[in-house]
Amino acid sequence: MPPTFVPGAVDYEGAMARDFNAGRALSANSLAVWRAAFEPYLTRAGRVVDVGSGTGRFALLLAEWFEVIVIGVEPARGMRDVAATLGKHCNVFYVGGRAEQLPLGRESLAAALLSNVYHHIADRAASARELKRVLQVGGRVLIRGAFAGRLGEITLFDHFPEAKAVCEQFPTLEDTVARFAEFGFEFEAVKRVVQQTCASLKELADRTRLRADTTLVLMTNESFAVRQAALERAAASETQPTPVIDTLDLLVLRRVAA
Ligand SMILES: C[S@@+](CC[C@H](N)C(=O)[O-])C[C@H]1O[C@@H](n2cnc3c(N)ncnc32)[C@H](O)[C@@H]1O
Repeated sequence: MPPTFVPGAVDYEGAMARDFNAGRALSANSLAVWRAAFEPYLTRAGRVVDVGSGTGRFALLLAEWFEVIVIGVEPARGMRDVAATLGKHCNVFYVGGRAEQLPLGRESLAAALLSNVYHHIADRAASARELKRVLQVGGRVLIRGAFAGRLGEITLFDHFPEAKAVCEQFPTLEDTVARFAEFGFEFEAVKRVVQQTCASLKELADRTRLRADTTLVLMTNESFAVRQAALERAAASETQPTPVIDTLDLLVLRRVAA
């Protein structure tokens, strides 16, 4: 039996908050490719909500890259505490809250980013309804991450197949598009974004050791130890650094008139 993924049950306080930025660092290449992917939708867009903003890394980047005002909405105090230490930007604000009940006004925003968040939302229908309420007509929802059934080009899963079995329980792209269609959003685009996540297997092993990832956290300690040891051996025998290349999705949905 694969480990069971339960939306809303992963603990983002404590060790996950402490290790998140090291375990999930964004390489220079990742920054460049994601900036290019977001750029058509966010440049000088106005006010943007970063739903599940975590440690605030994308909130800060969006404000810097696109000259937007960013409101980061994040339920875990531990993640918000790290965000408060990460750096400040005059156009970035954080608030406690959840996707299902956004602490934001009606039609007050031009766009929403959900980066590696949508699968965590326990009531996804409520989140789509809330996004419809807070976005202006024509506003975009950008969903960054991995969808079930589209996981073939993620290197982590070559080394941790049990983690892939967790990720296969995430929503599919088709279900996500259909869910948002119920609440007045139309499909605009899906981009396959190819990033160099790390420069070597050694760097990958240094990250996975921290288990700052839902799919690794849900593995049993025994199977994690076996897979991590095998990755460490592969990393130790690397004569040339092997770049770790992954493909993730960016789904773009557009709010249409009611
Ligand atoms: C994998 S982290 C992603 C953080 C950030 N978006 C990033 O890409 O760096 C997932 C975040 O979603 C948050 N989260 C979980 N359930 C949520 C919900 N119902 N509404 C909003 N955020 C939620 C978690 O607390 C956590 O900070």
